[in-house]
Amino acid sequence: MSVRFAERMNRLGTETAFDVLVRARALEAQGKDVIHLEVGEPDFDTPRNIIDAGAKALQSGWTHYGPAPGDAELRAAISTYINGSRGVSYTPEQVIVTPGGKPVMFFVLLALLESGDEAIYPDPGFPIYRSMIDFSGAKAVPIPLREASGFTLDVDELVSLITEQTRLLILNSPANPTGGVVPRADLEKIARLAVEHDLAVLSDEIYAELIYDGEHVSIASFPGMAERTVILDGFSKTYAMTGWRLGYGLFPDDMVGAISKLMINSASCTSVAVQRAGIEALTGPQVEVDAFREAFRKRRELVVDGLNAIDGLSCVLPKGAFYAFPNITGTGQTSKAFADLLLNEYGVAAIAGTSFGEAGEGYLRLSYANSEANLTRALERIETAVRAVRV
Ligand SMILES: Cc1ncc(COP(=O)(O)O)c(C=O)c1O
Repeated sequence: MSVRFAERMNRLGTETAFDVLVRARALEAQGKDVIHLEVGEPDFDTPRNIIDAGAKALQSGWTHYGPAPGDAELRAAISTYINGSRGVSYTPEQVIVTPGGKPVMFFVLLALLESGDEAIYPDPGFPIYRSMIDFSGAKAVPIPLREASGFTLDVDELVSLITEQTRLLILNSPANPTGGVVPRADLEKIARLAVEHDLAVLSDEIYAELIYDGEHVSIASFPGMAERTVILDGFSKTYAMTGWRLGYGLFPDDMVGAISKLMINSASCTSVAVQRAGIEALTGPQVEVDAFREAFRKRRELVVDGLNAIDGLSCVLPKGAFYAFPNITGTGQTSKAFADLLLNEYGVAAIAGTSFGEAGEGYLRLSYANSEANLTRALERIETAVRAVRV
């Protein structure tokens, strides 16, 4: 018997980073040396105090189911942290803890969108936005992020994309894959548009602590926005906790019941021991978070300067996150062809810009969450590859 899938499965996309990682590992298994610039995760280990808190929780009996929306103490710690850092005033009851930040996208888009609706999402952008809008049956409407404007969105263009059917806008600042940050003045205009057109906003702020120039501003802090905005955040990037699977959303009051129900129908609850580690992350010392940020800042300069020194490449300085998004059109290659060449012939795993949407053609995403020594070696290999294709 062959399995017959539901029609909706044809609409589900994926995240290429995981595919490239598999291909890179296969090359390594054949004895090839590969520098990993594909996966979006800090190369640091989780700070010791957080690991100890998680281990202690397991040893002291935090091994049972917990409440679906999360541990009360963690929800309180999250609302305190977010209110203090974003100029908002969420109650602990508006926080729902999830196994990573990603389920917040899944839940919000399933809960709010259906056939006949339209949702605007950034292109290039995190691929799961597009995938989940398609899965919901709604129409996915890309807003291009252009290099010329530092990869932030053009508010006039956004106005032109809003229709009677538009229900949701997805924002991601600082952004994956471009490192772009939406300036406060633009966020203020976008907030006014959202109120005027009665749009819900999913504000993905997972890189809020990784910002090198300027400030992080949450769209939820503008008048009329907290009741229509979901803030997505989590522990993966800030605390180097990608494998723990710990994230959260802050929701308008009237969404909390529906999202809790989606938690009950899917995961039941987030690992209770992991949530105890989350409390330590937020309430314990933050020195390592600062050290991670400073290390990323140095690597950002190393990578961007190195890329700009290569004839045929150019790269704008990303303001946040840990990705460089160089323009590779000078190589004469498509993004996919150049990414494949880099991996197969030169041992550098990177991601084609097109993995983040059509507007990503002509770019490559390099994660600089890797050691300075590896980044230097990768730059040498990239330079050799560019020279080879340009002759
Ligand atoms: C923009 C963005 N949002 C959300 C996530 C999800 O992170 P996690 O599910 O590990 O919390 C990622 C991870 O790469 C991301 O880049």
